[in-house]
Order: sequence, then structure tokens, then C-alpha cells
Amino acid sequence: MSIARSILLRASRSKWLEGQFKRRSFARRAVKRFMPGEELSDAFRACGELSQSGLGTVLTSLGERITSLDEAFAVRDHYLSVLDTIAERKLPTQISVKLTHLGMSIDRNACIDSVLALTRRAPEGEIVWIDMEESQYVDATLDVFRAVRAQTEKVGVCLQSYLRRTAADVESLLPLSPAIRLVKGAYREPPDVAFPKKQDTDRAYFDLTVRLLEGHATVVSGTHDLALIEKIRERADVLGVKAPRWEVHMLYGIKSDEQTRLASRGVGVRTLISYGANWFPWYVRRLAERPANVWFIVRNLW
Ligand code: FDA
Repeated sequence: MSIARSILLRASRSKWLEGQFKRRSFARRAVKRFMPGEELSDAFRACGELSQSGLGTVLTSLGERITSLDEAFAVRDHYLSVLDTIAERKLPTQISVKLTHLGMSIDRNACIDSVLALTRRAPEGEIVWIDMEESQYVDATLDVFRAVRAQTEKVGVCLQSYLRRTAADVESLLPLSPAIRLVKGAYREPPDVAFPKKQDTDRAYFDLTVRLLEGHATVVSGTHDLALIEKIRERADVLGVKAPRWEVHMLYGIKSDEQTRLASRGVGVRTLISYGANWFPWYVRRLAERPANVWFIVRNLW
């Protein structure tokens, strides 16, 4: 892991920095690069606009590691109302949730019930995605996923190719015919847990994708790595796998032209849109993915 990435990921957990940063008006301008706005209405506006360009969308309300069950229920109720609006407006939109935002660390059974409630409210055939957070939460997240998957197909989970354990997790999940969103991984992890070298993460990403496709999983490639997407598309063609069994998801504001270009070539593409006031840790993780993004802020500052 580069030093800049490591420093930024450590900074993403600093409450002091969060307080300092969020007070500055340039910060609000800078964060707009990765989110259409803090309000849900901003996110829905972007969903409508992107659907005009042939892109599906996934909505996520920013927040993690909440500390009370009341907060967790409020988050669940918020997502239930989001799903109602999606159905009312007939938008090609799914949701993606963080389980520590839905109270997993406080009451796991209540968290399972909340995810189940969301899957019941999601439009027919649509998936409720579960994000993957730091490695300490992987076992619990997969337990919740398994419990929900035992009752419905309308759920999918994110796996991270930088984790050494993911190949084994894929093998244990394949018998469930799971929906998996594979990403490279966004957190600061020790080298015995995650590959320190990017090339190992990239290699694992391709190998895991092939295993998932051959194992009849529904696969979402959550990446902006265009060369990797092309390699996966070729392999999916050979295997006869098409959308919705294979799709590409990218983040709002990153490689936007490529998202439209891929969709125009017949690839299923969704843009993940984040919204909400709790954007600091999430935003700094985006900076860490491409430390050159920090120059964007410095330029704005001047
Ligand atoms: P890589 O880092 O190799 O970048 C590929 C290309 O994209 C490069 O050209 C790079 O410059 C550009 N790029 C990547 N990130 C950029 C950025 N922030 N700004 C500008 N350019 C950028 N992680 C996680 O741990 N848990 C999760 O649940 C999720 N969920 C998730 C959903 C979706 C839809 C996506 C796209 C990503 C996630 N992630 C995630 C984040 C993921 O783990 C990873 O950190 C980022 O996707 C960056 O890695 P890439 O795969 O894009 O490759």
C-alpha cells in the first residue's frame, strides 16, 4: 500500500479532521465531484438523468458504525421509503446498504430482519446489495447474507479481492447461487489480511470473477478498471454470460463517459450514487483510491 493511501485511510477515521474539513466551503465543492448532493432529492434527480443515458443506478445513504438500535431502525425506515419512491417512479434503481449502518454490531438478528424487510419492499426481481466493510466485519456480514439468502433471492453481497480469505469465501458461497458484487477493497488492512501489492489484488480480482462466472453466480464487477472489465467481458462472452447475470457497477463521478460508452455497447451498467451528510470517511476513501485527487482539492483551495 502506498504511503499516501495509508495516510489518507488513517485520516478517514479522524473525527477531528472531519470536523475541520466539513466546516470549509471548499470541502462541499470538492465532494460534489463524487456525489450529486447531500439530499435524497439530489440523488433521485441524478437517477432520472442517468436513466436517460441508459444507465441503471444504485442508491446508498452514507453512514456506518451507528451506536443505537433506534438509529438503525431509522436507517431501515429511510431505505423503506426510498424503495417506495423507486417503485412509484418506476426507476431502474437498486439500493446498497452497510450492515453497521443497520445495527449489525448491536443486534445481529434485528439487522437480519431489517435486510429482509428491505428485500420484501424492493421491486420484483431487484437485488438489495450489502456492502462489505473492514475485515473485522466480514464473518458477521456473510452470516447476515446467508440468513437472508436462505429466505430470498433478492439479496447480494460485496466481496473484496484484496482479502486473502476471499477465495475461500467464494467457494463456501457458490452452493447458494449467490449474487456477488466483486470490488478490490477500500480500507486499510494489515498485510496478513490483505495483499499489500496492487498487482496481487488485480490478479485475484480476475481469477475470482472467472470462478464466480463458471460457478453460475450472478456477478457484478464493481470497478473502474477498464482493462480488467474488457478481459472479463471477453471471458463472459466465451461462457455465454450476459446481463443481468453479469453487470458493471461504477461510482458516480468516476469515468462517467466510459459508463455511458459501455452501456451503449450492450453491457449492463449501473452507477452507484451516495448521498447524505455523513460523507467524510467515504469521501477520504475516494481520495485514497487515487491520491492524485488530493491535488483537485489543493487547486480548489487556491
Ligand atoms: P483501480 O484502483 O485499479 O482503478 C482503476 C481506474 O479507475 C484507475 O484509472 C483509477 O485512477 C480510476 N479510479 C479508481 N478510483 C478512483 C477515484 N476515487 N477517483 C478517480 N479515479 C479513480 N469497497 C469496499 O471495500 N466495499 C464495498 O462495499 C465497496 N463497494 C463498491 C461499489 C462499487 C459499485 C464500486 C465501483 C466500488 C466499491 N468499493 C467498495 C470501492 C472499491 O473497493 C475500490 O476502492 C474502488 O472501486 C477503486 O478501485 P478500482 O476497482 O476502480 O480499481
